[in-house]
Amino acid sequence: MCGIVGYVGPQAAAPIVLQGLRQLEYRGYDSAGLAVIDADGEIAVRREKGKLSGLSNLIDAEPVQGSIGVGHTRWATHGPPSRRNAHPHASPDGDLVVVQNGIVENFLDLRTRLQAQGYHFDSDTDTEVIVHLIHHYYGNGCHGDLAASVRRALRDLKGPSAVVVLSKNWPDRLIAARLGNAGGVVVGRGEGEMYIASDIPAILRHTREITFLESRQMAVITADGAAYFDLDGRPVAKEPLLIDWNPTAAEKGEYRHFMQKEIFEQGRSLTDTLRGRLNFSTASVELDTLNLPPDAVNKLEKVTIVACGTSYYSALLGKYYIERLARIPVEVDYASEYRYRQPLVTDKQLVVAITQSGETVDTLAALEEARQGGAGTLAIVNAIGSQAARVCDGYLYMQAGPEIGVASTKAFTASVTDLLLLGLYLGQARGTVDEATRKELVHALSTLPGLAGELLDEAFHGRRYQALAEELHGYHNFLYLGRALHYPIAREGALKLKEISYIHAEGYPAGEMKHGPIALIDEQMPTVAIAPRDSIYDKMISQIEQVKARGGLVLAVATAGDEYIQQKADYVLEIPATHELLLPILAVIPLQVFAYEMALRRGADVDQPRNLAKSVTVE
Ligand code: F6R
Repeated sequence: MCGIVGYVGPQAAAPIVLQGLRQLEYRGYDSAGLAVIDADGEIAVRREKGKLSGLSNLIDAEPVQGSIGVGHTRWATHGPPSRRNAHPHASPDGDLVVVQNGIVENFLDLRTRLQAQGYHFDSDTDTEVIVHLIHHYYGNGCHGDLAASVRRALRDLKGPSAVVVLSKNWPDRLIAARLGNAGGVVVGRGEGEMYIASDIPAILRHTREITFLESRQMAVITADGAAYFDLDGRPVAKEPLLIDWNPTAAEKGEYRHFMQKEIFEQGRSLTDTLRGRLNFSTASVELDTLNLPPDAVNKLEKVTIVACGTSYYSALLGKYYIERLARIPVEVDYASEYRYRQPLVTDKQLVVAITQSGETVDTLAALEEARQGGAGTLAIVNAIGSQAARVCDGYLYMQAGPEIGVASTKAFTASVTDLLLLGLYLGQARGTVDEATRKELVHALSTLPGLAGELLDEAFHGRRYQALAEELHGYHNFLYLGRALHYPIAREGALKLKEISYIHAEGYPAGEMKHGPIALIDEQMPTVAIAPRDSIYDKMISQIEQVKARGGLVLAVATAGDEYIQQKADYVLEIPATHELLLPILAVIPLQVFAYEMALRRGADVDQPRNLAKSVTVE
């Protein structure tokens, strides 16, 4: 939430910062702003309400020149979206500016204190207390030492914050600091120039040599490099990581939206997820980053999976896979609930976090709770080098490549695939999956990217989905039904529809319909039934009958060539046949495309749905 980009070097800073912010706009688009030190040595600030295009237009009209700068794209917490609440926020004399990602939990106390000292507040934001605090300590106690003033100010803050500070009195440097889980801060090295950003894609065009700032660390960044310190001022040695993402992976290319691109590249992303992990000769999976040797697996008594949103629905499938393949009890919790129920944690437990961004603050807090209770921890994560991957005992990358669209798509199919691999890995270590099943699954997994690719090819080139969305986009409510493996897919399908098209949609276990939701069924409430040919196919057919008997419209996701369902349902979206455990990975794809096409017809902003942001770094 909120995106930050900074640059120092020989080039013009504003275009680099703006381009970086464009890659981070998924993190918030309530307002945007930028500051550079201009030729007169003054800080020039431009801020605008709304999306980055507004700021870009403003800069075209009122250009800024300078080779050191910082920018911000905002997801509003304190104070509504407006120009005056947009970052950067400046000190009273305009000598320094601050951009922030996070929340100052004690901002009311700090504001009252600063007001008593004579500070005037121009905005409703919590960020403004930070700039005034730094300004105050700069002149009181820190003897004009900028880094020391930032450290001192941060000591007063409660809650997570990542800040970048620019001062006209120190025109050769940017100071970045991080307190708690406020979202990432990455520092990138170029040739005689340096970059800062909240996330790697923002600076991937310029550098792949990335250093991650941890909580309670700061970086003093000049064109020649960065020096790292802890918040007590002690130097910290840090090693950069070489990121092997292709910069074009974070660009839209020929596609209209990132979400469209990310849906349609799932054939490729699933190949990457599986690459190097299937061993055909031993019919096994190889996951060397788990840090879980077979004897550790055999000591496990329980697995807990924590996640939020789409990742939570992936976790529901993980429960199914791990219990079925490894015969270990699995509980699944919303990460945002986990630590508030005083969970029972033991050292015979593995806590798995699923998180695309690796930054979701609720998920990181749940991991911390688990770690303190003595459990082993594992992150299934997409963002390379992100916090979740760094704090866990082991990790498994989704390898889906950068996901920019706010609605998660390819990371969902990648994380479900990772969970299936994990289930198999645990099962093979515990001897609970026989060789024939392993062979069958390893083979089925190897064909998965091809099947997804075929399905998507047809969806991309045909008119099936467009025609369907033409007919259905006027409805205001949808019910999604699935059973067993397809219940999480019903939830995920409903979430995709509601978050990008703003149509109300409920995902429900099909068998529960008769216990209440069936009362909602009428001709105004279409039902999406996820009913491929699996072991409970007949049960899903009877749910479809029940909806039809009450005058409801049915859109079914079914196995290709299923003529029976063609007769029962009003509309059918087909998926190829495969092993039962892999069906949900294919079944979700038509629901992603359907939600996308529906949103387009309702004129919604697919990549930046209202009120949402990717990487939820506030509680
Ligand atoms: C929905 C979506 C969100 C995220 C959730 C968790 O499309 O993207 O529901 O899944 O905010 O995010 P991560 O996986 O980054 O922890």
